[in-house]
Amino acid sequence: ASELSLRPQTFAQYIGQEKIKQEITVYVKAAQDRQEALDHVLLYGPPGLGKTTLATVIANEMQVAVKTTTGPAIERPGDLVAILNELEPGTILFIDEIHRLPKAVEEILYSAMEDYFIDIIVGQGETAHPVHFPLPPFTLIGATTRAGILSAPLRGRFGIIGHMQYYTEAELTAIICRSAEVFDTKIDPRGALEIARRSRGTPRIANRLLKRVRDFAQVSDKTTIDLEIVEYALNLLRVDECGLDETDHKLLLTMIELYGGGPVGLTTLAANIGEETETVADMLEPYLMQSGFLKRTPRGRMVTDKTYQHLGLINPNQQE
Ligand code: ADE
Repeated sequence: ASELSLRPQTFAQYIGQEKIKQEITVYVKAAQDRQEALDHVLLYGPPGLGKTTLATVIANEMQVAVKTTTGPAIERPGDLVAILNELEPGTILFIDEIHRLPKAVEEILYSAMEDYFIDIIVGQGETAHPVHFPLPPFTLIGATTRAGILSAPLRGRFGIIGHMQYYTEAELTAIICRSAEVFDTKIDPRGALEIARRSRGTPRIANRLLKRVRDFAQVSDKTTIDLEIVEYALNLLRVDECGLDETDHKLLLTMIELYGGGPVGLTTLAANIGEETETVADMLEPYLMQSGFLKRTPRGRMVTDKTYQHLGLINPNQQE
């Protein structure tokens, strides 16, 4: 049996996000030397880039336990007290989707983060009284898709901020080859690169596509995932050469067909394609913008020349 798991356990195994890794390696060492808890860390960036994985790697490197929860799961201040009270000193508390913490919970987090205590009101009416809970030193790692949607007081209490970047093709290729090894599957380097090209800079997507391609390879009695089976499978899955899927196509085509390419507002667009506004803002737009298929203007979103070209359409607004 291999020691390898799909999720990396150490910085050495974690591919990409070099800037964040380099910085946090220093802070981890320094905190360990001083025998202190690591300062609070905010990780922000599009979904699927490895924020949760990075939090578990940091815990592993600090040699402390990690407790994982999400913003919406902590409904009342008492829930947070219960979680924090159970923590051993130095433990990492990972809160995913930290922008979705209820306001009342967020407010008691301020003193917890800054001075390791919580004051809350216990009981109701006549019996209501303030209670002071001292907490063990801990590290909060918060993850969010956009730093801008966190309140300023919360954002300001993170000493370390890491902006997660889309992965390069080379990094994704390395991740795919590593995952294939974990799956005990042979993959041709050109097959791995093709999956990487179509993974929107996102390891979660790369690993998902790898699993699907592996299924196609297996059923076609292929012993190695080669370029041919990758192209066959991903074309069937309707993931195009740039990694855009049917939802991306729907979004871009809607902008062109209904709004002459834009500008169009985010909420309107989301309603038109039957998606939540947040889904469009957090999951669809960032990659389309990063890869030049979409641009943001003061009057709304617009497609680009590249979009028309990619979809095989003529841009009626093209300047010659
Ligand atoms: N699997 C998913 N994300 C990864 C990463 N950043 N490095 C290594 N393996 C991964």
